[in-house]
Amino acid sequence: MNDSKSQSASNPGVLIPVNPVIEDYMRGMLDHTDHPALIEMEMLAQKSNFPIVGRLVGVFLETMAKMINARRVFEFGSGYGYSAYWFAKAVGSTGQVICSEADFLNKEKAEHYLGAANLWGRIDFRAGMAQVIFAQTDGLFDICYNDVDKGDYPEIWLMAKDRIRPGGLYIADNVLWRGRVALEHYADVFPGWTEAVREHNQLIFNDPDFDTFINPTRDGVIVARRK
Ligand SMILES: C[S@@+](CC[C@H](N)C(=O)[O-])C[C@H]1O[C@@H](n2cnc3c(N)ncnc32)[C@H](O)[C@@H]1O
Repeated sequence: MNDSKSQSASNPGVLIPVNPVIEDYMRGMLDHTDHPALIEMEMLAQKSNFPIVGRLVGVFLETMAKMINARRVFEFGSGYGYSAYWFAKAVGSTGQVICSEADFLNKEKAEHYLGAANLWGRIDFRAGMAQVIFAQTDGLFDICYNDVDKGDYPEIWLMAKDRIRPGGLYIADNVLWRGRVALEHYADVFPGWTEAVREHNQLIFNDPDFDTFINPTRDGVIVARRK
């Protein structure tokens, strides 16, 4: 590990994985025929400082799901449904996205936005702890997507990995954790979270049953394909 010179000047102890100018370029290439509900969700995130995955990662999630013809997705930590919007688009009218979210107030918001986008019929949104909700489901998933509190990342991986079908994907956001995973000295947002993300990433890369890669876009998205 090293403390690179590319640490953010305005926020020492933090690294921005991809130069923002490059991300702006990538964003500019995307299709901008957006549903108004999507714009509203993005505006709410900006106004309330809520950590949605954002447009680039959203399109990445949709693309990953379409690539493997995903029909059944489980989300750990759904917020008010922004990432679920992209999965719901990908799974098609016969697919299903099971959302789990600790803050029950987010369910109403998700219904509002995803209903307006005509995607609510593909969503099974459950309020409560993701770990508990997941344990209440049966069968294999095409995709398990993890975006809960970072201290829980290793636990979620260990729960999810055997419930992904061969050829299916485990995806988790924030796996570079603003670069802290690569730094010797960093300011942790919550005690132990950086170490938990590191452990999570190492467990996945060490698992011989998965092919794994980190896309450094935004805060780093890990994709692990079950062999
Ligand atoms: C980063 S936000 C999720 C954002 C969402 N995936 C998106 O991009 O729109 C994390 C969410 O997970 C929820 N959360 C955190 N830990 C959780 C847990 N163990 N079970 C269920 N929800 C959890 C939080 O309430 C928060 O809304």
